Amino acid sequence: MALPSLREATIGRPENSFFRPAFVSAGIKGKKILSQYPDWAVEIDSLVKTFGAFTAVDRVSLKVQKGEIFGFLGPNGAGKSTTIRMLCGILSPTSGKGRVGGFDIFRESEKIKKNIGYMSQKFSLYEDLTVEENIDFYSGIYCLPRKVKNERKEWALRMADLEERRASLTHTLAGGWKQRLALGCAILHDPSILFLDEPTSGVDPLSRRRFWNLIYGMAGRGITIFVTTHYMDEAEYCDRLALIYRGKIIALGTPGELKKEFMPEAVWELETDDLVKSLEVLKMAAGTIHEPPLREVAVFGNTLHLVTPKGADLASSLPSLLSAQGIGTRRLEKIDPSLEDVFVSLVEEKDREIIRKMEKSW
Ligand SMILES: Nc1ncnc2c1ncn2[C@@H]1O[C@H](COP(=O)(O)OP(=O)(O)OP(=O)(O)O)[C@@H](O)[C@H]1O
Ligand SMILES: [Mg+2]
Repeated sequence: MALPSLREATIGRPENSFFRPAFVSAGIKGKKILSQYPDWAVEIDSLVKTFGAFTAVDRVSLKVQKGEIFGFLGPNGAGKSTTIRMLCGILSPTSGKGRVGGFDIFRESEKIKKNIGYMSQKFSLYEDLTVEENIDFYSGIYCLPRKVKNERKEWALRMADLEERRASLTHTLAGGWKQRLALGCAILHDPSILFLDEPTSGVDPLSRRRFWNLIYGMAGRGITIFVTTHYMDEAEYCDRLALIYRGKIIALGTPGELKKEFMPEAVWELETDDLVKSLEVLKMAAGTIHEPPLREVAVFGNTLHLVTPKGADLASSLPSLLSAQGIGTRRLEKIDPSLEDVFVSLVEEKDREIIRKMEKSW
């Protein structure tokens, strides 16, 4: 589907001159990204946001390349929305440095707002307006020139597959349709950077997949996507990820790098002839004995996943432990951790570190 260009109508506006140079091929997941320009879509250095005595975002530094899909993951309250709101020029940072689309987040927030798209975590459309009225409303906010207004509206309706529902009241739409409408409204002004704060939460898997197809299409055209999510399958779709916890970045890299370099522990998969009994025995062992050194045991389908320190060799000690209880080992192998394993492991490691520090200071 061709994207009608707003650029022709806005040529000469200084805030648009930075956007959309010609594409050149580069390597991220085979997509086309903008690489001949050395500047970054998002660049932040030691960004801090405090609310009174509480530090919600604690010296966060990261860079996002143009055309990249950058995932921002973290548990509830980690600081994701606060960071995004500072990047979008909605919230003033306490300290640090940052540029979005080349504009300074302290001094040029109005220019940033004009040049980015933002889908907030809370559904931000008017429920009592029709689909078309919501789009018209946002066209007004973005001050779209009259000559492109209708063209962009029709494009957004087609993109969101809402042409047939243009006269429907927004509150009658199912979750997935609403999210696509919100996305359509966020990109009416043809932004080059799109901030999406948990865009698919509460949406069914089919709609999520459809939403991500749209995101991929946009990234393929060179739009930078900065997205937060709680879904690990969605995190896998990102080119790079930052993991934020208690306001701090605790890991940053491609999904592959996070699994290889940031996983502080190893994950083993075990298949035995008695899953339930094995679970009982190993749960007990994890809490009481140090050999084999088990940190966690969890059921995963018809197997068990065991977490150990990286260098531990379960193969030499585990089968004998199980056979002493009359359990036969069918298969035991080290496996690549999932992103969820990495996420849980890093967060638990951070918690242990905090407890150790607190114990020391007592
Ligand atoms: N305006 C505010 N005043 C005081 N505290 C705030 C304010 N906004 C956010 N916080 C606190 O800052 C922390 C980070 O909040 P934030 O909304 O950024 O988290 P999040 O990672 O987006 O979480 P979630 O996954 O639940 O959306 C939370 O402890 C939150 O309560
Ligand atoms: Mg949030």
